[in-house]
Formats: sequence, structure tokens, C-alpha cells
Amino acid sequence: NHVQVILTAETDSTNEDVKRAFRANQTTLPILATTEKQTIGRGRRGRVWHSPYAQNIYLSLGLKLDVAISELSGLSIVIGLAVADLLQQQGLPVQLKWPNDIYLEGKKLGGILVELEGAFEPPCNVIIGLGLNVNMPRQSQEIDQPWQSLSEFQGQIIDRTELVIQLFKQLTTYISQFCENGMADFVVKWPAYDLYHHQSVQLISGEQVKTGINMGINHQGGLVMQVGNEEQSFNGGEVSLRPL
Ligand code: ATP
Ligand code: BTN
Repeated sequence: NHVQVILTAETDSTNEDVKRAFRANQTTLPILATTEKQTIGRGRRGRVWHSPYAQNIYLSLGLKLDVAISELSGLSIVIGLAVADLLQQQGLPVQLKWPNDIYLEGKKLGGILVELEGAFEPPCNVIIGLGLNVNMPRQSQEIDQPWQSLSEFQGQIIDRTELVIQLFKQLTTYISQFCENGMADFVVKWPAYDLYHHQSVQLISGEQVKTGINMGINHQGGLVMQVGNEEQSFNGGEVSLRPL
């Protein structure tokens, strides 16, 4: 039960640290990369993930998984639920926004970025990136949407080392369950955390906007929306979900 740990004071992105380790043909898996600061922290579609020094958690997990590419949208959901269950147990009423965002008090607390390295056939080198706002102070942050941190909610500074260890255990446990039994247990857990549960929403993909009622997720981790009289499913790729 070994894990290869990559600890840095500063890096471009912990997802890149894991990709470099994969490319260097490291045989010890899983890989856990975590850092104090990212200079090129990324969200989806190349958006910036604000990653100041010594305040938050930026971690990436590298695993070789026997899952098809089509199931990877489900993996992002599983990671969200792993984080949500852990924080919920610690008294934090977190919510999840499909497909990859973690919310607290209706504001963005963290995000998940799942990527692949190398071959697109299983077993795939999977990189799971997680950013979580832990002790980030309110002043001088240039994030262009409402955000929250664990310390602001708790009213005290939080030990990030302890939390990283808990997250690592929780993530690997949930991912194993996903690999063995698929999405069934996770589909059941989702509604309790869903930020827009049974609400009218807009699904935005470039110029295209689809309006409907958010009904939750399917067994591929896709979004299920009631559009008129029928239910339609959507995949996570290039889309954004917003309240109506
Ligand atoms: P969606 O995933 O629905 O498109 P999104 O606008 O949250 O939503 P993402 O790509 O998931 O987009 O996340 C990147 C965005 O998150 C950035 O554009 C910025 O608005 C915000 N952001 C960046 N850094 C942080 C941070 N540390 N905490 C909270 N929010 C952040
Ligand atoms: C999002 O909300 O779009 C996802 C944000 C993911 C941020 C994490 S921080 C650790 C890892 N390294 C990155 O560059 N991004 C992810």
C-alpha cells in the first residue's frame, strides 16, 4: 500500500506534477501531488483557479483505472460526493453543482478537474485535481464570482495537513467503490447535495441554451433535465449549469 507523494512549495499545477510523474514512467501508484501555491492553477476550459500561497488545498491524485472514457464524467461526480460526504460529517453543509463544483452557503468552495494522460483506452492514466478554499482571507482576492472558504464558515483556521490526509483516504475509498460497483450508490447520494435540486435551470453550451427542470444525474454522471414533457440527458464536457 504505497503512495508516491510529490510535495512542493510552488508548482505550475498539481495536475501537471502528476502528468510529469506518469510520463517519467513511475511505477508506484497512486501518485499524490500537493502544493502550497500554483502559478498556473486551472479550472475547466483553461479558466484560472486562484491558488495563493499557504492558504488552501490544491491536490491531484494519479491513478491507473480500468474505466472507459465514457465513464469518466461519472468519476468527477464520485469525487464531488467523496468530498461532500467528508465535509458533511464535519458539520459543513456543502452542496454540489453538476458537473464539478463544490459549494458552501451558495458560494463556490472548490472545484474538480479530471484529466487523462496518454492512451485513451483502459487502463487509463487518470488525473484527479481538487482545489478547496480552506483559510483564504476575504481581502485582495480577484475571483470573479462569489466564493467561500472553510475557515470563514467555521470561524477558525483549519489544519490543512490533517484535511489532505482525510481527503486522500476518502477519495481512494470512493474511487475503488466506483471501479468495483459503478455509479449506482452515488446516483442515490446525489440529490441531497444537488445545488439546484428540482429547480428550473439553464444549460449553456456556447451560443446554445437549454431550459428545463434539473432532475439530477444518470448512471454515466450525465445531467438529467425535464424539457417540456420529456427527460433529456447531457454530458459534462463544454457546458455550464445556471439557475433560471
Ligand atoms: P461551470 O463549471 O458551471 O462553468 P464556473 O464558472 O465555476 O462554472 P469553472 O471552470 O468550474 O467555472 O471554475 C473556474 C472559475 O472559478 C473561475 O473562472 C473563477 O470564476 C472561479 N474561481 C477561480 N479560483 C477560485 C477559487 N479559489 N475559489 C472559488 N472560485 C474560484
Ligand atoms: C473548476 O472548478 O473548474 C475546477 C478547479 C480545479 C482546481 C484544482 S487545484 C488542483 C488541481 N490543479 C489545477 O490546476 N487544477 C486543479
